[in-house]
Amino acid sequence: MNLLHISSSLFGADGKSSQLSRHFIEQFQAQNAGGKVTERDLAANPVPHLDLTRLQANLTAPEQRTAEQQALATLADELIGELQTHDVLVLSVPMYNFGIPSTLKAWIDHVARAGITFKYTATGPVGLLKNKKAYVMAARGGAYQGTAADTQTPYLKTFLSFIGIDDVTFVYAEKLNMNADQQPQILADAKAEIDKLISQ
Ligand SMILES: Cc1cc2nc3c(=O)[nH]c(=O)nc-3n(C[C@H](O)[C@H](O)[C@H](O)COP(=O)(O)O)c2cc1C
Repeated sequence: MNLLHISSSLFGADGKSSQLSRHFIEQFQAQNAGGKVTERDLAANPVPHLDLTRLQANLTAPEQRTAEQQALATLADELIGELQTHDVLVLSVPMYNFGIPSTLKAWIDHVARAGITFKYTATGPVGLLKNKKAYVMAARGGAYQGTAADTQTPYLKTFLSFIGIDDVTFVYAEKLNMNADQQPQILADAKAEIDKLISQ
């Protein structure tokens, strides 16, 4: 089993979402000796926003791309390749300004590719990634779970399902900025939840 970790905290490994993912990955590695773990840190190495030139390059078949288009499309090809070659996707997702980090949205814009990660049919869209599980480590200063203000959960579920990943589990660490004294307990509870998930 190979694991792909997509992180997006401005605080890198110190981010709370990254800390939860690190805990998940350590447990995962203990159970999957030999499994590969690939790190994609979107805060340290942001992918550019999608613009028309890049979109057209991405959508052009590799054998028909110009050299300039190939240079532009290489990044999205690589990001999609990472998704295709890993079984487990772990997303570290801070809440920034009531949504997912813009760096994560930029990544999504690169990996959604018609004919490769999804296709449209007469009966609707079909995801083309198969047999994958995703875990989302959601860190928030406030509390949103189960409310309309939780824009992250429905959006990520919808997008992941769109590309074929229907098995998605969320672990939440909420109220992190409401009372500093409670932070260690909130993180410990989330880690205990991760332990349960891994043991299942
Ligand atoms: C730029 C920025 C915007 C934020 N916006 C929100 C927000 O809209 N709602 C919220 O609950 N917390 C917000 N927070 C707090 C973060 O969600 C919280 O610090 C969380 O731990 C971030 O995850 P991280 O530690 O993995 O970066 C914000 C933090 C930053 C730095």
